[in-house]
Amino acid sequence: MSSEQDFGYKMETKATEQQIAHRELLYRLFRDRPIPDDQLLICLGLFMRSSALAKILFVNEAYQLILDQPGIIVEFGTWWGQNLVLFENLRAIYEPFNQSRRVVGFDTFEGYPAISEKDRPSDTIKIGGYKVAANYREYLESLIDYHEKNNVLAAIKKHEVVQGDVTKTAPAYFSKNEDVVIALAYFDMALYEPSKAALEAIKPHLVPGSVLMLDEFNNRDYPGETRAFKETFKGVSYRVKKSRFMTDRTFIIVD
Ligand SMILES: C[S@@+](CC[C@H](N)C(=O)[O-])C[C@H]1O[C@@H](n2cnc3c(N)ncnc32)[C@H](O)[C@@H]1O
Repeated sequence: MSSEQDFGYKMETKATEQQIAHRELLYRLFRDRPIPDDQLLICLGLFMRSSALAKILFVNEAYQLILDQPGIIVEFGTWWGQNLVLFENLRAIYEPFNQSRRVVGFDTFEGYPAISEKDRPSDTIKIGGYKVAANYREYLESLIDYHEKNNVLAAIKKHEVVQGDVTKTAPAYFSKNEDVVIALAYFDMALYEPSKAALEAIKPHLVPGSVLMLDEFNNRDYPGETRAFKETFKGVSYRVKKSRFMTDRTFIIVD
């Protein structure tokens, strides 16, 4: 099954034709695996390309930056929600008894709801791009619940998945949760309008040491996120650090 056939968009890639053809081999090896499910789930690295592994290391790198930092973790643009699960499991590994380290994810789950003139569309960045399966929010909640219940502090729910357009849900969420402090905020929506709305919404909740993860900082193809960041953080003092694993991704650390 390909994402284009099933969801109306194809994954963005910088791979060559030859690499794409070669990738079909991996899909076939995955489909034809002679490995039982229980053993597959502890050997998933068998099928993980280096780029996918780098993304996981990048999330771990971010988590390490907030180990001495109080507050919640938020992700704007969760897609299938892998990072929400990774954050919960990294919490369990690094700080199993930190019950205040909640993880909150925002997405429409129907893909991009709008593209303004401030941004450029592409194969994936288009209305409906990155849409996931119907009723996916419920499925994702069950998955995160499973991991929480498998980890220490099983009885305490520490996650929220907020469905809807971030330009509306982020201001509503943070005005309802006005006492919240943000340790880490991951921005992965690429576009100006939702990035700007989310940055404005979290700004009063940042403290010295809060970390922002920006996927498209200084990205010529998607300038909207950088523009939204520069506007919102004008006059704010911060440090910039690039990722060691995803070398075009950036951490902003508030002074
Ligand atoms: C690049 S994907 C995120 C990938 C994900 N962070 C990951 O690492 O697996 C971008 C996501 O942003 C979401 N998105 C884009 N604009 C949005 C908006 N205005 N409100 C909510 N979600 C939005 C899309 O639905 C999509 O799932």
